[in-house]
Amino acid sequence: MVPLKKNSLGVGTMRQFNNILVTGGCGFIGSNFIRFIFEDSEFSGRIINADKLTYAGNPENIEDLENKFNHRYFFFREDICNKKTIGDIIKKMKIDAVCHFAAESHVDRSIAEPDAFIKTNINGTFNLLELARKHRDQIKLFHHVSTDEVYGSLGETGLFTETTPYCPSSPYSASKAASDHLVQAYAATYGLPVTISNCSNNYGPYQFPEKLIPLIILNALGGKCLPVYGDGKNIRDWLYVTDHCCAVWEIMKAGRTGETYNIGGRCEKKNIDVVNTICSILNDIDPDDKNNPHEKLIEFVKDRPGHDLRYAIDFSKLENELGWTPEETFETGLEKTIRWYVDNTRWVERVKSGEYLKWVEMHYGK
Ligand code: NAD
Ligand code: TYD
Repeated sequence: MVPLKKNSLGVGTMRQFNNILVTGGCGFIGSNFIRFIFEDSEFSGRIINADKLTYAGNPENIEDLENKFNHRYFFFREDICNKKTIGDIIKKMKIDAVCHFAAESHVDRSIAEPDAFIKTNINGTFNLLELARKHRDQIKLFHHVSTDEVYGSLGETGLFTETTPYCPSSPYSASKAASDHLVQAYAATYGLPVTISNCSNNYGPYQFPEKLIPLIILNALGGKCLPVYGDGKNIRDWLYVTDHCCAVWEIMKAGRTGETYNIGGRCEKKNIDVVNTICSILNDIDPDDKNNPHEKLIEFVKDRPGHDLRYAIDFSKLENELGWTPEETFETGLEKTIRWYVDNTRWVERVKSGEYLKWVEMHYGK
């Protein structure tokens, strides 16, 4: 685990929270975030996780924490669009901070079926903002987790800064852009204490295998085709998930109210290079694997419509103000990630077979 850094420049006072509402805490980044802050010995408060448990929400991502921190961890299966139930949670659990991860998060799904993206990402965020406004006597901070995709696509050069104009290409990024604007508007209009972070592509344990890195790892392990969109030359900036969690936590504790912070890995990679690197690590893990060399499984497939060419992040604001930099390199992060998917066969099998969804239905209903 990455050790939490201090606010090395001493900018701003450290906020302290007793009861943090984490939305989407059963998803990839939300579950890693809950694990990350429970490991911060300076945090002694409670985490209240509100998650609708869509296909991307898997209670097995945090089942170890439920037992370990059972007096400090509370789960509610709730839709962030439900004003009454989320409002009751805010009151009953004396919520003093919101860290808002819940979202529909996959670009390809947003192209096929945008409806849920508008509902959850825009209406859901609006709902949470209204509730935070209503309960502003108790809410010290509303942190909104967003993406670098709101800025659109870069050409061959340049970096996204916090002042890059928004120019989203997909229904996903457009819905996140809308939610960012709503958060900014609530700060400007109602004085709501907010912070926003716009982060690049994450990878690491517990990521649902629809996103590039876990999909390629699991397909390669299963000897299946490794689909690369277009010519594979699109570029993403990659960040190991605990580095993202650390940055969000630093911003929540010491970020300036009303500010946006970019988060990135200074780690630009062409998609084809990411896929080749995964293949090469897998070839080395088991030299006798019948699927070696895994590169032979690569297939160039039809490109994604509106496919952004390049993302790259200037995160010097976060670095200069809060002293945050990523701990993991792409090599160390990817090794850890591949190792995690290789070792966690039960999680992988239950996700691949959909067994985790049956468990959710049995415990919580449809
Ligand atoms: P994810 O898809 O893995 O998880 C989303 C979680 O939100 C799931 O647990 C799901 O059940 C829950 N959820 C969805 N709709 C809900 C609703 N209406 N009410 C309550 N819960 C709901 O997503 P992720 O990759 O963990 O992303 C988390 C956040 O981080 C998102 O806001 C995303 O835009 C942002 N982000 C992601 C990345 C990335 O690379 N994954 C990068 C930058 C920012
Ligand atoms: P993805 O993980 O879906 O994240 P995002 O679209 O939010 O950046 O995709 C990362 C990159 O990988 C993106 O350029 C699309 C590409 N890609 C493939 O080439 N093949 C795939 O099967 C997937 C899922 C993505």
